[in-house]
Amino acid sequence: MKELLVFLLVGCGLAQCTKLSPKCQLKEQLGEAIDKLGNKDLGDSLDIQAKIVCYVNLTSGFNTSAVGEKKVGSSTWKLYGIFQLSDHVICSDGETPSLNKCSKSCTDLLDSDISDDIDCLLETLIDLIKLGFLVPHLEEVGMMYKMILFQRECIEMKPSDFFSECG
Ligand SMILES: *[C@@H]1O[C@H](CO)[C@@H](O)[C@H](O)[C@H]1NC(C)=O
Ligand SMILES: *[C@@H]1O[C@H](CO)[C@@H](O)[C@H](O)[C@H]1NC(C)=O
Repeated sequence: MKELLVFLLVGCGLAQCTKLSPKCQLKEQLGEAIDKLGNKDLGDSLDIQAKIVCYVNLTSGFNTSAVGEKKVGSSTWKLYGIFQLSDHVICSDGETPSLNKCSKSCTDLLDSDISDDIDCLLETLIDLIKLGFLVPHLEEVGMMYKMILFQRECIEMKPSDFFSECG
């Protein structure tokens, strides 16, 4: 009996036990990844987390295998995974010419492990914040950045209100 109790306590991490909502769970994962980077270039961590989670809700709806589309100029981007990352900028589908900034296969962004999606997203954002207008391929990278951090519905919200239920 004692062994069973110990097993239950050890085998049950915070996320599984308390059933965090997808919103709060993603906030935690992003927060941990940003902390791990120890990188001040991203600015206010909570603000970035809120912008990203708000964007995810509006686009993939927290679906890690979502595939979307967006017309950008004369081309059509295919968008992969929970963060809807572009086949022209972030990853490669093997056929479409892509900057492939994260050196990833687009289908790798569709599995349920989003830690690589998060690393790729943060790297891309940090690159642009650091290099600004000097970032290579500004037009495409800037468009991806704008889509993620400047959703009309997400600009005005207060991070502390947005995450109020997350504790
Ligand atoms: C997701 O977006 C919808 C529509 O804008 C909104 O009603 C809902 O509160 C949002 N949910 C989260 C978790 O942000
Ligand atoms: C997630 O997206 C995939 C691909 O578009 C779709 O097949 C699947 O039904 C979606 N899952 C949910 C829970 O909406």
